[in-house]
Amino acid sequence: MNRDNNDMIREMEYGRDIVEDRLRELFTEAGSSYATLVESMRYSLLEGGKRVRAIICMKFCEAVGGRLEDALDAACAIELLHTYTLIHDDLPIMDGDDMRRGKPSNHIKYGEFTATLAGDALQAAAFETLSCSPLPAESIIEMVRILAHAAGAHGICGGQYLDLSGEGWHLTIDEILELYSMKTAALISAAARLGVIAGGGSKAQIEAADAYSQAIGLAFQVRDDVLDCIATAEELGKPIGSDIENDKSTFASLLGIEACEKMINKETNKAISVLKDNFENTEFLIWLANVLAERKS
Ligand code: IPE
Ligand code: IPE
Ligand code: MG
Ligand code: MG
Ligand code: MG
Repeated sequence: MNRDNNDMIREMEYGRDIVEDRLRELFTEAGSSYATLVESMRYSLLEGGKRVRAIICMKFCEAVGGRLEDALDAACAIELLHTYTLIHDDLPIMDGDDMRRGKPSNHIKYGEFTATLAGDALQAAAFETLSCSPLPAESIIEMVRILAHAAGAHGICGGQYLDLSGEGWHLTIDEILELYSMKTAALISAAARLGVIAGGGSKAQIEAADAYSQAIGLAFQVRDDVLDCIATAEELGKPIGSDIENDKSTFASLLGIEACEKMINKETNKAISVLKDNFENTEFLIWLANVLAERKS
């Protein structure tokens, strides 16, 4: 029986709920001399995120025949690492944005050194959580390697370096493509591949998950750029106009909104097309690619 839109939304909400419950479990209030640091981590981590990457991770696990729960720790690790990137991304030395997930950014609420350390500690917590996952040791080692690669100089850090060092310069389409693939698609791809590994998928399935998520990752960042131009801060829970203010080259600034819409469509279709030959249950992942393409927040 085909599931309808409401069934998909319910599946998405279920995934979000189990991730949030587990994250809450991992970060209970610490009655210690450094309690404020832990509180600042919880502040950014626990509310307001869409949990897109965690859901991708768990749904790829399911798509290769695993249970959602087999990928729960990996999904939490991805969200921990993602939250660190957001806290650092908002710092005055990076994008300098005062609002995130509908609240004052971490450094606005707790100050810059606490925010910096909260990000560092969340990244460490990501690897600790992944390492403690009850999966075969060889799977965990491979997952740690994939996540570390996506987080480092050839992934998020390199992408953020290109993003920030490109401010004030006119980047080419190819330069922007490389930057998006590193700062955004790398983590989405890691999420998908971790899910496949947690579910015991094949090498071909890992490669297909990578192709799907590279494409939706690119579409995701282009949509983010478009929303930075046309949405409201209330809808996004973060400031609008940040890219123009920081004089960044984005697809939106270089090509305009209409070309961005075309590109989002093209990448979404590309993502969907790699699913059918590689996974049995693709309904949710197809639905998700379309929902992300049209997202308003
Ligand atoms: C924001 O990611 C950073 C980008 C890569 C554009 P999300 O839009 O997934 O942010 P949250 O997790 O829902 O807050
Ligand atoms: C995402 O790019 C960068 C990260 C890897 C966190 P943005 O700088 O556009 O993300 P937002 O718009 O601040 O969420
Ligand atoms: Mg940024
Ligand atoms: Mg930013
Ligand atoms: Mg943005």
